[in-house]
Amino acid sequence: MTRIFALSDIHLDYESNQRWLDGISTHDHQADILLLAGDVSDRRAVLERCFADLTRRFKKVLYVPGNHDLWVRGDSGHDTSFDKFQAIRQVAHDFGVSMTPLHDRAVSIVPLLGWYDYSFGQPSEELLGIWMDYRTCRWPAGADDGAITRYFTNENELARATPGRTVISFSHFLPRIDLMPTYIPLQHRLIYPVLGSSVLEEQIRLLGSKIHVYGHSHVNRHVTMEGVLYVNNALAYPTEARISARALKCIFEY
Ligand SMILES: [Fe+2]
Ligand SMILES: [Fe+2]
Repeated sequence: MTRIFALSDIHLDYESNQRWLDGISTHDHQADILLLAGDVSDRRAVLERCFADLTRRFKKVLYVPGNHDLWVRGDSGHDTSFDKFQAIRQVAHDFGVSMTPLHDRAVSIVPLLGWYDYSFGQPSEELLGIWMDYRTCRWPAGADDGAITRYFTNENELARATPGRTVISFSHFLPRIDLMPTYIPLQHRLIYPVLGSSVLEEQIRLLGSKIHVYGHSHVNRHVTMEGVLYVNNALAYPTEARISARALKCIFEY
């Protein structure tokens, strides 16, 4: 029996998050698969340690980068966040972490790269002023958010599953904005434009996914919409324990 676990937004620059990861059993998950849906750290050494820690614990780890992972700061050694993405892909490869689809018996697991393209709304002046990515990501001249999103989503492998095969996809970014619960206060909806892209939803439907795991919002949730189970299982920031479960979540067994 293989179990598939979902996890995102482990933000390992927080010491208590690293301690939580250290506490994951090194025995219990040797036959299990982990979907790691982005936002580990912008520091390469932290990402490398994370990959080493998780590949020791799970049979297989699949990963997509989050926005935090693509931050380029002064000494990162990367000119643009695209360059950093390519470097991260190499790190993942070197540590045996997969960023491409896995077909195992009757299950296909498909990572979906993405970004935000304002399909959920236009950013306000206030958001443009406070959202860290605008200062910590760097893009080639002329690349707007639509072009950035296409750069990533065009990489995704979208072969539709053969009948009888269960497709499970995962992304860092949200595929649809109605995944945000209605209880979210109005002042926190400021960030909705930078939460994801409807291109991801189109890709999920093309794939015929039965389950889609996403991160980024840090709001834990599982909800079925139009036949797809959407799951957010973010570890999130230590201060966000109210909206995040801070536990591994099994989403499928086969
Ligand atoms: Fe995050
Ligand atoms: Fe994020």
